[in-house]
Amino acid sequence: MDKQTTNVNELEAAKQLNIMNELKVRFDQEVEKTGKQKTYHIETFGCQMNSRDSEKISGILKQIGYVETDTEDADFVLYNTCTVRENANNRVYGRLGYLGKLKKSHPGMIIALCGCMMQEATVVEKIKTSYRFVDIIFGTHNIFKLAELLQTRLDSDRTVIDLWKNTEFIVENLPNDRKYSFKAGVNIMFGCNNFCSYCIVPYVRGRERSRNPQDILEEIKAMADDGVVEIMLLGQNVNSYGKNLETPMSFAGLLNEIGKIDKIERIRFMTSHPKDLSDELIEVMKDNDKICRHLHLPLQSGSTRVLQIMNRRYTKESYLALVDRIRSAIPDISLTTDIIVGFPGETEEDFAETMDVVKKVGFDSAFTFIYSKRTGTPAATMENQVEETVAMERFDRLLKEIQSGSAKAAGRDEHTVQKVLVEEINSQNPELLTGRLSNNLLVHFPGDKSLIGKIVDVDLQESKGFYYMGSLVK
Ligand code: 5AD
Ligand code: SF4
Repeated sequence: MDKQTTNVNELEAAKQLNIMNELKVRFDQEVEKTGKQKTYHIETFGCQMNSRDSEKISGILKQIGYVETDTEDADFVLYNTCTVRENANNRVYGRLGYLGKLKKSHPGMIIALCGCMMQEATVVEKIKTSYRFVDIIFGTHNIFKLAELLQTRLDSDRTVIDLWKNTEFIVENLPNDRKYSFKAGVNIMFGCNNFCSYCIVPYVRGRERSRNPQDILEEIKAMADDGVVEIMLLGQNVNSYGKNLETPMSFAGLLNEIGKIDKIERIRFMTSHPKDLSDELIEVMKDNDKICRHLHLPLQSGSTRVLQIMNRRYTKESYLALVDRIRSAIPDISLTTDIIVGFPGETEEDFAETMDVVKKVGFDSAFTFIYSKRTGTPAATMENQVEETVAMERFDRLLKEIQSGSAKAAGRDEHTVQKVLVEEINSQNPELLTGRLSNNLLVHFPGDKSLIGKIVDVDLQESKGFYYMGSLVK
């Protein structure tokens, strides 16, 4: 990003902070008159990018003077939507119907929609005609403008719609409301340039843009000073980080820099594209034990023929070879993946190739999806769409294979002592704490809540398949 763009971004941040202050004064006066706090509620659908965006939205709303509530019977309700598969859209429409009724009994309620679904023109048309009670619609590129959009809405009685197709803007230093005090997500890049033929993300999240390393490092240092010990670096394809920066920098280089921040004890990242995963990254992971022993490496399909039509730009063989390289450098790594079944034209032979890769790799776990047609993507108009019953049957077989692989993989660390980040009091038994291993598995063990946020040694006494039961090593 050049100097001029940086200045524009700073001006924009200042402008938005100013609007937040204006609204705060206005809200404080109203609260004084009515004696009632204004409340907000956010529902987040979809991936970790959306969760991170919701923290930013929450930060803006708190700055304005709203307080969070866990019901949708709130003064400001926002749905941060996902559109990666059709059922994500349907869930939003279903809940919107309910919200419309709730609004009738809640005078002054403001309903806002944002996120990936809003970047689709047909969705916005449908909301304008069928869900006219919606007050504010914005997309994935202009979250930083929320205060301004809210001010516009309060000063008029029309729906405020602000959607950007794409942007160069990365506005830094706006308020932020982290869900956990000890771990945090950090965006390192936005958008995606890969155009996998089934995927809507490049259309709704725009072109790939990397944040400046200085901005990322400053953000992480400030978080570390604030008590954060674990960070999750977020991007659609973190392995291509930095390629479009004025002074290019590799993802592995960025990891090295982050590793130097003393108080950061754990670094995670998501998602890696197999085609861009470099040997340099494997080396850095091997040498730096702050980097967690977990790699999410979406396979999507095990058939080279299907991978080519998916535009994934790797083959079955090159994926398996990559897994070998990773495992021989970092033997205790946990590998997880995403797989789609029923991609257009997928034959029984293609599916058998997917099953073969799953057997050979033995993933620790996997997210499996039935292909969902996304209008506007190349795959949506491909011939030979697979019958739903066929896809479902393959899905069931795949799930069984994945489960048997993860049962084998789990338990690998039974009877060893591992470092664990204590995250919370166990939701079912308040005598227990729940913590996370470097490889992302959970362990439950007796302990005091004062340990939450600390990294402790835990003896993994018993594997329960997807988690462990353990005891604290003093
Ligand atoms: N249908 C099914 N699954 C999809 N994904 C992305 N697009 C689709 C689609 N059209 C899956 C991919 C991706 C994950 C986030 O969602 O597996 O890795
Ligand atoms: Fe979608 Fe492919 Fe980009 Fe991932 S890499 S967001 S699957 S287009």
